[in-house]
Amino acid sequence: MDLTIPTGLKGRDFITTQEWSLEELESLFHLAERLKRARAAGEPTPLLAAKTLYMIFFDASTRTRNSFETGMTQLGGHGIYLSPDRMQISHGENARDTANVLSRYGDGIAIRQCTYGEGNAYLREVAEHSEIPVLSMQCDVYHPCQILADYMTIRERFGDTRGLKLGVAWTSAPNYVRPLSVPQSLILMMPRFGLDVTLAYPPEFRLMPQIEEQAKANADAAGSRFEITHCFEDAFEDADVVIPKSWGPLVHTQDVQEGIGLIDRYPKWRCDAERMALGKDHLIYMHPLPADRGREVTDEVIDGPRSVVYDEAENRLHVQKALMALVM
Ligand code: CP
Repeated sequence: MDLTIPTGLKGRDFITTQEWSLEELESLFHLAERLKRARAAGEPTPLLAAKTLYMIFFDASTRTRNSFETGMTQLGGHGIYLSPDRMQISHGENARDTANVLSRYGDGIAIRQCTYGEGNAYLREVAEHSEIPVLSMQCDVYHPCQILADYMTIRERFGDTRGLKLGVAWTSAPNYVRPLSVPQSLILMMPRFGLDVTLAYPPEFRLMPQIEEQAKANADAAGSRFEITHCFEDAFEDADVVIPKSWGPLVHTQDVQEGIGLIDRYPKWRCDAERMALGKDHLIYMHPLPADRGREVTDEVIDGPRSVVYDEAENRLHVQKALMALVM
């Protein structure tokens, strides 16, 4: 299998898909598809032999940590899991010093920092001082790797994605306040690939205004549609793909108890078989996981034949291997 890596993206940061052109994203998907085939065929892919990725997690993770770390192993390199409470970050070491020092040792820095109002700023500060690429593993604004995997999954199912209807719907999961980064990254990138996006949320759950405006501008530039509704069912009506998931009312309030109370106010915003029946016959259900089963979605749907959540989770591995091979 030809695994020649284009060199034009070496050294590039990946903090939002918005900063990568469609051609650059296409080259990533092309490589991800080849890496997926190579893995299925048992072919070794030592594209990052002896290279090191530092993975700094301010927040918990199952998929992101294991797909990045496994990805580095499969590319012949090494991923090091770093927790800020075990680093000198816990004693106040700043982003500049962390970035400069890790740049002297390794080949990439990946960060998950989802604190509202802080995460993206921290990634940007590390990137400003780092001499090696900085990769987002999710911040308060973006979760770009998740959306790469989502798009790969949709393309595997449908081929040409132009004109497909994607419903992105808020769901009620009052066990904790989730970041805005998944829906925001979805509405930014999917219209660029020609999908028509319907975003549904109760009024208190709007996304960052500048992101909603950028999504509309992206859709206009691509000739696709982006619309916002406060009706849950609108996201499902005649849809090809739905991604119903929870997020916090963070633009409205950052008070955790008030946020949980608002999330709890809308228990009917839950994906079930009745809602799925509103979509096209081939409608697929997606969720980045972890899902709050019973609150966000019924078992019948998430475990049913329309659910592609494990393909979606698997594709995190393939897109991130492609990303790392391109930039590191
Ligand atoms: N989807 C996702 O990012 O999963 P984790 O939080 O488990 O990494």
